[in-house]
Amino acid sequence: MSKAPIRVAVTGAAGQIGYALLPRIASGQMFGADQPVILHMIEIPNEKAMAALKGVAMELEDCAFPLLRDMVLTSDPNVGFKDVNWACLVGAKPRGPGMERNDLLKDNGAIFVGQGRAIAQHAAKDVRVAVVGNPCNTNAWICMQAAKGVPKERFTAMTRLDQNRAQAQLAARAKVAITDVTGALIWGNHSATQVPDFYNAKIKGKSAFDVIQDEAWLKGDFLKTVQQRGAAIIAARGVSSAMSAANALVDHVRDLHMATPAGEYRSVCVCSDGRYGIPEGLLFSYPIRSDGKGGWSVVQGLTLNDFLKEKIAATVKELEGEREIVKHLIA
Ligand code: NAD
Ligand code: LMR
Repeated sequence: MSKAPIRVAVTGAAGQIGYALLPRIASGQMFGADQPVILHMIEIPNEKAMAALKGVAMELEDCAFPLLRDMVLTSDPNVGFKDVNWACLVGAKPRGPGMERNDLLKDNGAIFVGQGRAIAQHAAKDVRVAVVGNPCNTNAWICMQAAKGVPKERFTAMTRLDQNRAQAQLAARAKVAITDVTGALIWGNHSATQVPDFYNAKIKGKSAFDVIQDEAWLKGDFLKTVQQRGAAIIAARGVSSAMSAANALVDHVRDLHMATPAGEYRSVCVCSDGRYGIPEGLLFSYPIRSDGKGGWSVVQGLTLNDFLKEKIAATVKELEGEREIVKHLIA
């Protein structure tokens, strides 16, 4: 017997990431090849955006995806989040050249208040939320605060793109296959203060630090390349990453939906309960394992040396500063 469809909301569905993401969800790459989906595609109440959304829906129809059971097109969050099991919050302004992601807080923060409220009122009881719109950690914090009654552990923000970037850089440097790099990990904020951890990452099962044997590169170019990759893509393309961002979101949700293989973890921003000395309540990127039944846990016992501790302190400080800027949005 075929499974009941999962309802997946995507905000910003007519945007760049939406265009790269929706066919991946509809083709089964997010929830599995036997899992039907219903897409709730949410845009702003603007004639141009809604016309573009209609075009995206026409293209999805033309793909004739066997798993795509229905589509809901709307600019009303109360309709868009009705009964959804997953909410992918992508819709927000992207940064342009010369901006940091938290320069977007003023423009984007308020979006997540209304969406959080609508999710609390209308989504399915098991709803889970993945925030991509930048600055995603703090937007997820806003959404979590606004969505009264929805358990805090349901809110995540995306550092999977940074993890994938770190994995790719380490593989290229060590001249190994991407699958030879495991345990690549991002601590903290999806921003220039993020901490790509090359001590706990492994290459063919050995510490990446020991295999690469180039501390200056790891602490210098590697760190900077991963931290600044988003800006480098904006400089090259004129617009921010979309294909790799959509791919990372597929990875993020799929890996929370399925059980994490033994001995592995993924970078996911979740609400801190104080683990690793991170202040409670911050949406912080940690090593996460999923139980495949909707639950997750922070992997404990990873070693944080003085270098990592110092970098983590800086990313915590930035997240606390961002929270200070937006806390007035939450009455
Ligand atoms: P885009 O401008 O191409 O598309 C954004 C879409 O969101 C637009 O169609 C816009 O109309 C829509 N939108 C705006 N406000 C909305 C709202 N309140 N409800 C519903 N839809 C709304 O931008 P994009 O390139 O798709 O990027 C979207 C966001 O994702 C940006 O904030 C960007 O910075 C962020 N991003 C995050 C990561 C990450 O790793 N976390 C990676 C890439 C991009
Ligand atoms: C990225 O990391 O590519 C995105 O967050 C977009 C950006 O503004 O850098």
